Amino acid sequence: MKIAVVGGGGREHAIIRTLKKSRNADVIYALPGNGGIAGDAICVGIGATELDQIVEFAVEKAVDYVVVAPDDPLAMGLVDLLEARGIPAFGPESKAAIIEASKAWSKDMMKRYGIPTADYRTFDDPEKALEYLKTAELPIVIKADGLALGKGVIIAATREEAEAGIRSIMEEKKFGKSGDVVVIEEFLTGPEVSVLAFTDGKVIRPMVSSMDHKRAGDGDTGLNTGGMGTVAPNPFYTDEIAEECMKKIFLPTVEAMNNEGRTFRGCLYFGLMLTEKGPKVIEYNSRFGDPETQVVLPLLEGDLLEIMMACTNGTLADVDFHFRDESACCVVAASGGYPVSYKKGYPVTLPEDREGIFIAGTKLQDGVQVTSGGRVLGVTETAPTLKEAVDKAYETIRKVSFQDMYYRKDIGARALKALEK
Ligand code: AMP
Ligand code: GLY
Repeated sequence: MKIAVVGGGGREHAIIRTLKKSRNADVIYALPGNGGIAGDAICVGIGATELDQIVEFAVEKAVDYVVVAPDDPLAMGLVDLLEARGIPAFGPESKAAIIEASKAWSKDMMKRYGIPTADYRTFDDPEKALEYLKTAELPIVIKADGLALGKGVIIAATREEAEAGIRSIMEEKKFGKSGDVVVIEEFLTGPEVSVLAFTDGKVIRPMVSSMDHKRAGDGDTGLNTGGMGTVAPNPFYTDEIAEECMKKIFLPTVEAMNNEGRTFRGCLYFGLMLTEKGPKVIEYNSRFGDPETQVVLPLLEGDLLEIMMACTNGTLADVDFHFRDESACCVVAASGGYPVSYKKGYPVTLPEDREGIFIAGTKLQDGVQVTSGGRVLGVTETAPTLKEAVDKAYETIRKVSFQDMYYRKDIGARALKALEK
């Protein structure tokens, strides 16, 4: 079969590496891919949001199946367009991708169906939002309604910060139209867990849990990023909590989406917070997480292409797969200055064995990979224990270098501490 994977980051590299092991994946195209993905797939210079060109390419090359990895093309309706041309694709249709594309919509949905989440209000008028903030309890969380590359969330400790947040999102339009509406919600505390789950709209089968490290600096300091590292499984996510999440969150979400006429097929990502009052949904994503995917897929025992196609076809209950009872750790190497401003174009040195290296932001220049993004790559290692996986990942990342490279030194530290207890 000919497969096309839309996207070009570390997540897509991990997906492509895993698809390569699938029995029926004969040819894999990446649109657009990147300098590292080029070693594993045929990269085609079409961007992930160039929908018409993607569809034309798929038709012309007689692509059998398309995997749409990033949020934007999903929200824009790429899966719908492909299906209209008879090309099956992994990922939700646009009307189901709304679960990530509009936080106001997903909050209202959770409220309607009694799915546990933070209390909230939504506003489309900045004056009313500012008025509400005068008496709201602090700290308070302000979120741009639409897609904002994971950066549209402000946790305000003071009224001044909250007010500045509203002005930057709603008036200065820091995230463009994504900020026409804001969600203002209650500040929750507790360990965070990412759970990615396959669903065909009938059954939902969670993957191994993971823990993201979103802040740029050690000890969870500094700015929010797309994610600086991950570990799996997440030690805070016990079997008992998993069962509770299945009953109160995962199944009700699948049913809610069906009820709303927005059946979700693909990878549903639950960003959870384990609060004293039980697990609550912090966010939904309509896709695989990045860099969660880089620790989840290396633990998969099963045929990813078969699983994905079963999500599309409604036969997920029949597929045999599981996750190895091991641990994984991914440490991201970023360009100095990320997530604010950074230079590109530095040559990247990699170790000989690249099996666990997922490239996020490089391009090929005269046959050499040079940096082309903020997050440049992730190093993933798996091992029987988390401690070994963490140690191995740090050992490998020391063999990687490029100018101004930086990485967090404490990926997995919080998880290891939790395991000690
Ligand atoms: P999101 O993009 O919605 O996942 O939010 C980014 C990060 O902000 C999350 O991973 C949390 O660490 C934090 N966050 C979001 N909502 C809340 C909340 N209601 N209470 C506390 N922290 C939150
Ligand atoms: N790592 C968080 C995300 O993919 O949204």
